[in-house]
Amino acid sequence: VAELIIGKPVSRLPAALRERVSKNAKVMVVADAAVAVRHGRSLTAGLNKAGFNAALTIVPSGERSKTLARAGDLYRALARAQFERGSVLVALGGGVVGDLTGFVAATFLRGVKLVQVPTTLLAQVDAAIGGKTAVDIPEGKNLVGTFYQPLIVWIDPALLKTLPEKHWRNGLAEVIKYGVIRDAALFERLERRIDHLVKGYSSEWVPIIARCAKIKAEVVKKDPVETTGLRALLNFGHSVGHAVEAAGGYQGYLHGEAISIGMFAAALLSESLTGLRPVDRIRLGSLLTRAGLPVRVRHPIARRRIMDFLARDKKVRDGAVRFVLLKGLGRAVSGRSVPAEFLDAALSTSGL
Ligand SMILES: NC(=O)c1ccc[n+]([C@@H]2O[C@H](COP(=O)([O-])OP(=O)(O)OC[C@H]3O[C@@H](n4cnc5c(N)ncnc54)[C@H](O)[C@@H]3O)[C@@H](O)[C@H]2O)c1
Ligand SMILES: [Zn+2]
Repeated sequence: VAELIIGKPVSRLPAALRERVSKNAKVMVVADAAVAVRHGRSLTAGLNKAGFNAALTIVPSGERSKTLARAGDLYRALARAQFERGSVLVALGGGVVGDLTGFVAATFLRGVKLVQVPTTLLAQVDAAIGGKTAVDIPEGKNLVGTFYQPLIVWIDPALLKTLPEKHWRNGLAEVIKYGVIRDAALFERLERRIDHLVKGYSSEWVPIIARCAKIKAEVVKKDPVETTGLRALLNFGHSVGHAVEAAGGYQGYLHGEAISIGMFAAALLSESLTGLRPVDRIRLGSLLTRAGLPVRVRHPIARRRIMDFLARDKKVRDGAVRFVLLKGLGRAVSGRSVPAEFLDAALSTSGL
């Protein structure tokens, strides 16, 4: 599994890499356009100064870059640069650049070395950790991909100083998720400090990001390819969330907004099915709301469309819709099948 380095400035990556790969290895930094100027150039210069043969490639921002066509461009650039198995790809960006670069690293020459340097809150606590890589095809998101572990995941929270507010809220939904499924103390800390935390980066974020990254790493280490049900806990709120995202054609809701609605719906189900206390469901709802996240849809979505997407969800088995539910705050259970009448009631409460 990858080595997690949390809280050190990215300027120290070249020196760390020198201890782990051969001295004049080729390195390609693949950077999101939004961070390339600010951090990509200096990182590439630092790598060259440390003795590597490093170059920078810039990828346009946004989900539209997560394609086979963009992967093809990168393969050709690597071939022209005469990349070898011992060469290193560095992904510098959010989940889009991380997934794309990870996919290319996994498949070029059947695998070159990979370093993840996530630059969004969502990528620092989630996307960069766990070894899932993917690209999208017109038929659906993340349909083509591999599991591939990076050598290092370098998490420098100071990179988040420039992250726009909406992407901050997006990651915040996943941060809240970790508290809800795995760490009641984290949940309480968020409850106490959310009004400050929601404003953006401050040093107070460093231990919170570290905790979330470690929860993800620990879960993935114990259940690397989703067989025991442990890794499935990370999908809390994601069944309904994905349906809301997909029904809106990925336009109407940020991922974090959609899973916020999904987490609240799952909490309602948990109250009926796994004994979550009503007061804890209310606490979750109010934390999400204070974080600027919705707990119901803004406009109704036809129930049939939601049910279609739920049925198509990769996590469905044997026809029954299975949910991650809560026994309490910090205690989640996976694979619970939900009777239709309960699902109906929860979806109605979510405005669906
Ligand atoms: N592999 C996994 O396990 C996993 C998990 C969750 C999500 N994902 C994937 O991650 C993607 C979403 O990731 P994301 O939310 O990071 O989106 P993203 O990569 O599109 O980044 C969001 C936006 O922030 C900008 N940006 C990035 N870093 C910045 C910075 N430091 N300062 C200013 N702007 C910055 C980007 O240009 C982009 O416009 C999706 O494609 C999703 O499928 C993968
Ligand atoms: Zn998610």
